Amino acid sequence: MTADILGTLRRSHHCQELTAKAIGQEVVLMGWVQRRRDHGGVIFVDLRDREGLTQVVFNPAVSPEVHDKAQVLRNEFVIAVRGKVDHRPEGMTNPQLFTGEIEVLVTELKILNAAQTPPFMIEDQVDASETIRLKHRHLDLRRSALQKNLILRHKATASIRSFLNASGFLDIETPVLTRSTPEGARDYLVPSRVNPGNFFALPQSPQIFKQLLMIAGFDRYYQIVKCFRDEDLRADRQPEFTQVDIEMSFVGEEDVMAISEGLITALFKDTLGVDLTPPFERLTYAEAIQRFGLDKPDLRFGLELKEISDIVAQSDFKVFANVVKNDGIVKALNAKGCSHFSRKEIDDLTEYVAVYRAKGMAWIKVKEDGTWQSPIAKFFSDAEKRALAERLDMAPGDIIFFVADQPKIVNESLGHLRNHLGRKLKLIDNQAFRFVWITHFPMMEYDENEKRYEALHHPFTAPLDEDLQDLATQPDKVRSRAYDMVLNGTEIGGGSIRIHQPEMQQAVFKALGLPEAEYQEKFGFLLSALESGAPPHGGIAFGLDRILSMLCGSESIRDVIAFPKTQRAACLLTNAPSEAGKAQLDELHLRVRQLNAT
Ligand code: AMO
Ligand code: AMP
Repeated sequence: MTADILGTLRRSHHCQELTAKAIGQEVVLMGWVQRRRDHGGVIFVDLRDREGLTQVVFNPAVSPEVHDKAQVLRNEFVIAVRGKVDHRPEGMTNPQLFTGEIEVLVTELKILNAAQTPPFMIEDQVDASETIRLKHRHLDLRRSALQKNLILRHKATASIRSFLNASGFLDIETPVLTRSTPEGARDYLVPSRVNPGNFFALPQSPQIFKQLLMIAGFDRYYQIVKCFRDEDLRADRQPEFTQVDIEMSFVGEEDVMAISEGLITALFKDTLGVDLTPPFERLTYAEAIQRFGLDKPDLRFGLELKEISDIVAQSDFKVFANVVKNDGIVKALNAKGCSHFSRKEIDDLTEYVAVYRAKGMAWIKVKEDGTWQSPIAKFFSDAEKRALAERLDMAPGDIIFFVADQPKIVNESLGHLRNHLGRKLKLIDNQAFRFVWITHFPMMEYDENEKRYEALHHPFTAPLDEDLQDLATQPDKVRSRAYDMVLNGTEIGGGSIRIHQPEMQQAVFKALGLPEAEYQEKFGFLLSALESGAPPHGGIAFGLDRILSMLCGSESIRDVIAFPKTQRAACLLTNAPSEAGKAQLDELHLRVRQLNAT
């Protein structure tokens, strides 16, 4: 048996604890060598643990043996030291550091483990690529920025649990090996060994299970739960991510929104000390699109879009007139005071909107004398010009951008242009938290590729009573009882009041174009549960990773997840996903098609 390497050494303090009050005490610290400096025979080590740094000193005058032993220390060695807390000498104190007044004069050193030279410095201003850092995530996670993020994540989930526990919610687990849950993404499938040719799907959300829990009578449920979606990844999307999933019985929209506001308010107070003031602002989907072009508007700045279809419908500018004739719209955005934009800047912005399928972007600059400079000004009559100037609040120094097309293209391109200009022109207060609820979403959208209607939220969302008459005939006119919580232009949560009557659920499946055989096969168990006495219910799910990245002020949700995946949905640390061996595939009744080498 090997001796316990720690022997009798036991940690007395962590590395963010000792101040001048402790001077003279004997302490034991353990941690990693952040930095070693050799100053004329005296060795200084910054010792690091998750809490912070403490300077420990190996002075030959204190102990020549310990000083000798310290010669081998290198960055990231793991050590234990015993020593006495002392003042730092005159002029050596470091006010930046919590422990900056003191140092520990080491009388005993135990090297608990050596370490290879790390591939990058464990520092906040790290310049290594993200690829290298993800490959060595355990080292990247030693950096204090990431340590702080994950500690904040812990505080956040503790706050959420405490709020929901106190509000009568029960934490109940739901299965991970399950059937497909339709949330609009592709499923991750898991082959069944026991049932040849059959697959489980990993849940895109616990949606159906939480509804079943309401039907079972649990009244208020929550879960901080992993969800899995095989979709194209971006900075705010991961293939596995965490939801704060909530469901409540005997409620309407207002009740779910009030609980949600309470939860978020407590969370901001407990983590950042920020006081929010609910109720949050509200916009209907229609108004959000009309004014901001997007259903997740960033309300930290103005630059609202204005529709001008009526003004240009009869104009001589055929691009605009024809678009309006063909059920399209024309909208504009006034970038106040930006008439100095160069040709190149305008071209760049035009390229920017082209990504959202805008075929062109017309512009008008208002010169200091009030006259217009524009490739399209000549097409407008004086009356049209006056109407445009008034609607768009045009003043000398402004530049106006126009997009004409089908509504979806116009709104998306100008909505994203608005966000882009907000950043470019530094109109955004980075300290502000602007929350807004978006309500009255359309129930479904026509998918041109699939040639059928798709639920905008999910197919269990209740239609608005007042729109019910259109369900069978004009389903795209029907609005739903869904709501999203948007913070600074990011959707951080979404939910709805659910359908609790089986007839209504069938009518919605039909309106979505699902044949009866298909919805019976997929959701028969839910329909039968709805027939067994389902209470009116509704809920919401928050994207925990997104909320945390906003709390931490980080660019990507990868910074608040301990072991995230890359944009290509891979884990560089473990090299997952990886090939499976023949024996394992045989057992699962699977054969991999020969893939062409690429
Ligand atoms: P929804 O699909 O809107 O609703 O998801 C809820 C919230 O989860 C977050 N989110 C994601 N975060 C990171 N990576 C992803 N790939 C990702 N996808 C979604 C978003 C989103 O607002 N069952 C419903 C909720 C309900 O109706 O109660 C649902 O899953 O912040
Ligand atoms: P054209 O007559 O095609 O040279 O276009 C004149 C101006 O109108 C140019 O500035 C184009 O970028 C702009 N334009 C063309 N198509 C559109 C459109 N669909 N929406 C807005 N502007 C457009």
